[in-house]
Amino acid sequence: MNADTITHTVNLPLPVFLVPPTLNERLDDAERAALTAEIRTLLARENAVLVAHYYTNPDLQALAEATGGYVSDSLDMARFGHEHPAQTLVVAGVRFMGETAKILNPEKRVLMPDLGAECSLDLGCPADQFAAFCDQHPDRTVVVYANTSAAVKARADWMVTSGSALDVVRHLHAEGKKILWAPDRYLGDYIRVNTGADMLLWNGACIVHEEFKGQELAALIATHPQAKVLVHPESPPSVIALADVVGSTSQLIAAVKTLPAQTFIVATDRGIFYKMQQAAPDKILLEAPTAGDSATCRSCAHCPWMAMNGLRKLAQTLRTGGNEIQVSAELAARAVLPIKRLLDFSTAQKQQVFGNNDA
Ligand code: 13P
Ligand code: SF4
Repeated sequence: MNADTITHTVNLPLPVFLVPPTLNERLDDAERAALTAEIRTLLARENAVLVAHYYTNPDLQALAEATGGYVSDSLDMARFGHEHPAQTLVVAGVRFMGETAKILNPEKRVLMPDLGAECSLDLGCPADQFAAFCDQHPDRTVVVYANTSAAVKARADWMVTSGSALDVVRHLHAEGKKILWAPDRYLGDYIRVNTGADMLLWNGACIVHEEFKGQELAALIATHPQAKVLVHPESPPSVIALADVVGSTSQLIAAVKTLPAQTFIVATDRGIFYKMQQAAPDKILLEAPTAGDSATCRSCAHCPWMAMNGLRKLAQTLRTGGNEIQVSAELAARAVLPIKRLLDFSTAQKQQVFGNNDA
């Protein structure tokens, strides 16, 4: 059996969806400077703050930082947007991140540079099919990954992110709960193996992380034996098996900063290199391979939907107030419950850690 085969996943057909080509915005210095200046003015005029994911274009990440906004993983983006006083949140990332911001802040206006920025995990888990799946397993606690629509979250007991999933599932397992997990089967399997929880997995995958290859990664490690291997848990098991650190985007950046190694092989979207380089400028970062020798690119690790975000679209969104995220009040009232559960859980965990340190 192939090492990447997961046998306990329910046998759901994977939906076919249209994946856009990965086209990053190309700007010359003059246009970049002009757009940056205009966006600064518009953010101030609109009482807006820019919140960007680590996988977005470095221009957007730099601008978010320079204007009092924030660059982070999906959980911290939600937390920052919730706590920040700005009336308008501009979310540079993919649609579920904008929806999460809106669900947590129904009174705020949430804009995105491109509402077509989707996610294969979200697209691969349609709400009606997911609800039917949940109905078949009423004895299970429903835990969904952040990378899902508002309607899927509304059907869940818990929402988790890659940085919090292990702790939440460990907690539920200790309470004797059986879990229904969606949508990422690789992350779900990683959590299942590491917690021992009884988990039934939806058959979804991230088209970016799924492309990392264990065999090619092993070959790269052989040529850099001192390198530490950092892997996002949306990757296949054969890739995770070679990791020194498995973690969320924030956890992988922290690893580059804190581990004593000089060289790192990184299996996640290459957008993260901007922040990693900033965190540890003297370290060498290598992209994990996504394909064999016959392929046309050695690493294609960039999310085509994240690449839809850019300065031109951001400026246009702020000029017009277009691309506003809409979630009905009725849906938001249900979807907020699993999100708040996670935020409360992670706050309580932090308090516990501080308590232990104080003792
Ligand atoms: P994080 O929660 O680690 O930011 O990951 C989100 C994501 O989409 C990874 O592909
Ligand atoms: Fe979704 Fe994968 Fe893109 Fe993350 S990298 S937003 S999981 S498609």
